[in-house]
Amino acid sequence: MSQFLVDVLKGLSAPEKYLESKYFYDAAGDAIFQQIMDCPEYYPTKCELEIFSNQTQELASVFTNRFQSFDIVELGAGDATKSIYLLKELVDRETNFTYYPVDISTNVIDQLHKKLPPQLPALKLKGLNGEYFEMLEEAKQQSNNIKVVLFLGSNIGNIPLNKAEDFFRQLRSHLQPGDLVLIGFDLKKNPLVILAAYNDKAGYTRDFNLNLLKRINKDLGGDFAVENFKHYPTYDPHTGTCKSYLVSTTKQQVHIEQSTFYLEEGETIHTEISQKFSVEQTNTFALNSGFEPLHHFFDSKKWFLDAIWRCV
Ligand code: AVI
Repeated sequence: MSQFLVDVLKGLSAPEKYLESKYFYDAAGDAIFQQIMDCPEYYPTKCELEIFSNQTQELASVFTNRFQSFDIVELGAGDATKSIYLLKELVDRETNFTYYPVDISTNVIDQLHKKLPPQLPALKLKGLNGEYFEMLEEAKQQSNNIKVVLFLGSNIGNIPLNKAEDFFRQLRSHLQPGDLVLIGFDLKKNPLVILAAYNDKAGYTRDFNLNLLKRINKDLGGDFAVENFKHYPTYDPHTGTCKSYLVSTTKQQVHIEQSTFYLEEGETIHTEISQKFSVEQTNTFALNSGFEPLHHFFDSKKWFLDAIWRCV
């Protein structure tokens, strides 16, 4: 039985039904996520791109002032649209570094190996296809240089708040004193701005959420009637937690393999958490998990933070 099937059956059998958001990202989901990132309401990508494109020199200097040579390991590199600014600046400064983009998708790594060399011929590039921490160990096997780990895009927000610190402790356990990490955090702000980012007018986020049901139909032989579900995003400004659900608009049954699931009219399936943070919260994460906050880079609206922490 595939892990996807195990996780789907478990989530739909729970008293409060849920599906894990990591399963959004099949080829169709990747393409819709690209549309989300390009739509006017989805600000996080634009804010972080502004940081990388406007403060490139300052970012690069944090690393070149400290180290003669090092490795950059980017967890969940995607198409490296943001990190490419930093990579280019470091190459221009003739810095001695190797870039290890890590991604769970083979396709992403293949694309980076096609796209980056023509743009940055001098870049030392070694794509790693697999799980974050396993590939971080692989990068350590390949070289014992100081590591600079990038974890951008506020991907940390997709982990429940009470698990985020565990993630950072785990990350720290794979690193050495003196190594650096650069983490992207989407910050708390006007709740209307946040909610709109998960409820865009064109309906890309709706399609992204519903695509999960389509994927279950396609890959697991499910029979979700996708038209019987509505996208329902919420944001609680007190906790900073944005949650997305799918609401069943009718009493219905769904079959997956030998299992039948019953949904009442109005019943929900929880599909995603996108946590928003305060700057203080991010400092507390660092201090509680074996890091020291070193630098804060904000966009001009102060909606997004790229924090650099040092392993102590
Ligand atoms: C990938 N991740 C940080 C995005 C987010 O904002 O939580 C995924 C996303 N979901 C809906 N819109 C974007």
